[in-house]
Amino acid sequence: MDKIVVEGGTPLKGVVQVSGAKNAALPILFSTLLAPGKHILNRVPNLQDVLSTFELLKSLNVKSDFKDHVATLFTEEPQNMEAHYDLVRKMRASVLCLGPLLARYGHARVSLPGGCAIGARPINLHLDALKKMGAEIKIEEGYVEARCKRLQGAKIIFDGVTVTGTENIMMAAALAKGTTILQNCAKEPEVANLGEYLNEMGAKVYGAGTETMTIEGVDNLNGASATIIADRIEAGTLVVAGAITGGEIEVQDFDPLIIEALTLKLREIGFTLNSLTGSKKGLKVTSPKTWNAIDVVTAPYPGFATDLQAQFMALMCFAQGTSTIKETIFENRFMHVQELSRLGADIQIKNQVAVIKGNKKAMTGAPVMATDLRASASLVLAGLGSQGKTTISRIYHLDRGYENLEKKLRALGAKIERVP
Ligand code: EPZ
Repeated sequence: MDKIVVEGGTPLKGVVQVSGAKNAALPILFSTLLAPGKHILNRVPNLQDVLSTFELLKSLNVKSDFKDHVATLFTEEPQNMEAHYDLVRKMRASVLCLGPLLARYGHARVSLPGGCAIGARPINLHLDALKKMGAEIKIEEGYVEARCKRLQGAKIIFDGVTVTGTENIMMAAALAKGTTILQNCAKEPEVANLGEYLNEMGAKVYGAGTETMTIEGVDNLNGASATIIADRIEAGTLVVAGAITGGEIEVQDFDPLIIEALTLKLREIGFTLNSLTGSKKGLKVTSPKTWNAIDVVTAPYPGFATDLQAQFMALMCFAQGTSTIKETIFENRFMHVQELSRLGADIQIKNQVAVIKGNKKAMTGAPVMATDLRASASLVLAGLGSQGKTTISRIYHLDRGYENLEKKLRALGAKIERVP
């Protein structure tokens, strides 16, 4: 298995571009199941999770061609409606084929995703909503067996904010009979991107990206084309890379507004962040010599992203003072804490709140192990800021959600390489 080796202590300098968003590409790829014919998607990131999605779609008779970040897909009638456990356990987002298959064919057999490192991650909110739309749902042998003559529009208020739950029901409602009203929706930009693509295909989705959505079902949809939005989590990760090394970098090709919860915190503790002017959108980050500690609570968008929590915790290990980070979205998203402690961090966890006593001098390189996607990013960042050498193992986690992260960081002057 590959490892990443980082020699820390070099302030990053230069310009880096953000790729397309993994969490926008995945639902949009699954939405191609809703419409026969050709789909052309631009700015698709070249990630393991995207390749896994192509593999699953292929088993559902959607062929794909992927070159230079353009994915061309051809949807035909699937021979079977099953998303197999072997594919789903590799990537939980596979649950996003449930809504489209049920909406278009009236049948879906999708393996329960099972838990993952960061939490139990049930899909009850997805299934409750589909039942309200008339689906008959059975759980057998670890699979969700869903059937329905034709989904009916319904009024649904989600008991909890769920990103893929919102996306699954949007896709189901697009082909349902009648109108669906969704309330307490996830408001992530990725949800809005999916809504745009559904409408490109001929759907009638109103309010995607806001708390309430109205979806008027139509009888069929057609293949179309779209561009995936910038990955706000990669953008935030790169901004923190510039910050943690005390450098000065420009992160380009994204709308700074989509990481405002992060940038407001960074400004508050002493970093200068200026929006780029001219044709290139993005942010210029200039670091102070030292930065203060601060408290963070993760929340659904537009709150502080749980997917940036681990990265921000790495930054707080180098801050002056004591920070707290409260993780409110997942019950076990502190797997990176033990690994950061191996680098010299002083972090205590008390009922879902991490207390980080910043001490830049104490941070020194060591061998560490990645446990999940964003935890692995946080270990790379901590390695960049620490004196000495950090070796990160199990970086297949990283490859699920970042395209060539070490190449992007090396282009900014980081001493980082991937070794077999
Ligand atoms: C999406 O996961 C993202 N994945 C996650 O990103 C992200 O961390 C998460 O949203 C929160 O922002 C994709 O978009 C592919 P949720 P999702 O449903 O949809 C509970 C990454 O690093 N819940 O919004 O699975 C759930 O357990 C990944 O790119 C239920 O209880 O997250 C969690 O505690 C990691 N029942 C909370 O809600 C349900 O039916 C939020 O989950 C669904 C969710």
